[in-house]
Amino acid sequence: MEVREAAVEGRSSSRAEQWWRDAVVYQVYVRSFADANGDGIGDLAGVRERLPYLRDLGVDALWFSPWYPSPMADSGYDISDYRSIDPAFGTLAEAEQLIAEARVLGIRTIVDIVPNHVSDQHPWFEAALAAAPGSPERERFWFRPGSGADGSSPPNGWQSIFGGSAWTRANGDGEWYLHLFAPEQPDLNWTEPEVWAEHEDVLRFWFDRGAAGVRIDSAALLVKDPALAEERPHSGPGEHPFTDRDDLHEIYRRWRAIADSYDEPRVLVGEIWLPDAERFARYLRPDELHTAFNFDFLGCPWEADRMRRSIDGALAAHAPVDAPATWVLSNHDVTRPVTRYGRADSSFAFESKRAGTPTDLERGARRARAAALLAMALPGSMYVYQGEELGLPEVEDIPHDRRQDPMWLRSGGVDPGRDGCRIPIPWSGDHPPYGFSADGARTWLDQPDGWAALTVAAESEDPASMLSLYRAGLRLRRKAPWGGGAFRWIPSGDEVLAFARGEDFVCFVNFGSEPVALPPGAEILIASNDLEGGAVSQDTTVWLLNPLGQGEEGR
Ligand code: GLC
Repeated sequence: MEVREAAVEGRSSSRAEQWWRDAVVYQVYVRSFADANGDGIGDLAGVRERLPYLRDLGVDALWFSPWYPSPMADSGYDISDYRSIDPAFGTLAEAEQLIAEARVLGIRTIVDIVPNHVSDQHPWFEAALAAAPGSPERERFWFRPGSGADGSSPPNGWQSIFGGSAWTRANGDGEWYLHLFAPEQPDLNWTEPEVWAEHEDVLRFWFDRGAAGVRIDSAALLVKDPALAEERPHSGPGEHPFTDRDDLHEIYRRWRAIADSYDEPRVLVGEIWLPDAERFARYLRPDELHTAFNFDFLGCPWEADRMRRSIDGALAAHAPVDAPATWVLSNHDVTRPVTRYGRADSSFAFESKRAGTPTDLERGARRARAAALLAMALPGSMYVYQGEELGLPEVEDIPHDRRQDPMWLRSGGVDPGRDGCRIPIPWSGDHPPYGFSADGARTWLDQPDGWAALTVAAESEDPASMLSLYRAGLRLRRKAPWGGGAFRWIPSGDEVLAFARGEDFVCFVNFGSEPVALPPGAEILIASNDLEGGAVSQDTTVWLLNPLGQGEEGR
């Protein structure tokens, strides 16, 4: 790996309020980040201890997956109290300290808000179960009589995203309630003003405590067709009974007004899985969300043509609403990139996830390195999920009785679930718990043997490690070697992606098996793998300065 920093001017000044337009946001999955009290579960004290690591990595913001009190039926995405911290993680006072300490280091905090559903142990749902059919308590959810003569069948055929029916029969009076995810996650009824008011108050609660923004879970699912119409195979835009319904936008307009009411406006980031780029972009209109995760890029196979189309599609969809694209390679729900890119089919889709797919991890790691530098060079913001910067692979051999994810359980083991990308981070040492917990502690998910070379300590010592690449790439990115320059493709043949930003900067990715020579006179800023006699070999990304002959003599 080669790094030429001296050649790069200082970072272009972007308006402080628009920090989110090109930010690097690091996702902290607290349970698996660092465990300070030795109980095998990561906690806020562990994050606070490691803030210097995050500063040195060069991230602008942290997004915390839910840290609230939760029975953990879906690893915290089943929240029983939106205004507190789960005791396993720490206290509200610690969260406030963490937000403040991070800010001192120049790192903002984004909290995760889950508005589609609550935990079945949330006081609202407990009250609903205790109340009678038709009561105001039940109106906050979707309670309905069953179908069939005796009401013993679900009200309709909607399927849970985790598998099985989306309805569960409540004990006692026989009504059913809707849960698009697990039965422990009853869906809220967003036709109820009280549901709106509660969430607006929760936003203010966290914004008042210094949160710079929120990540909005399942953001396109909140509104349902009150007629509970069945899903149709080819429903038109906005016609699906529980995805991307037009009434959603009014919710986010209200949230945007709240976010904008702060001296430093707060930021709204949507988790929106929608194949239709135009419908996706509607959420990013100037009075709605600021950004949303680009899952098309995440799911894209490692192929030049598909990547080019994905990048083009994202840029074209965002331009009319003047929102920045986001570049996401992983999160806590998807197969780790090193594993994904090491497979014959390197795309990602929940439907096609299968355990035991043959995987070439060496190839996957090489591609993941190239993908990281590609993502860092594209215009917009970038998300890094903890462990991605270490090149951790998916852990695929978790014993069945140790698996936690409802996706695994509810699919009857067909879907391997998401535990494999949620393994506790290895920090140091040569055996579990690798500095994650006190020696001898059993971590909530077991770490594999053989991760000694993947610890933060080991990778910090190794200039060729994934961590060294992320640190160097993010350091360069911060200096914006492209200045404010516009993005444009450079003709490069079928197996190569090459784009310029401005006049001086080019990013070059070789997907093909033939090494590709670099333009003479180009200065190499950084490369994801060693060059072969000046040529870029397969699955390698290079950042170049002055490659277009417009250097000193060419001007
Ligand atoms: C989102 C989260 C996922 C969770 C689901 C239900 O997709 O990212 O982890 O299971 O929502 O809250």
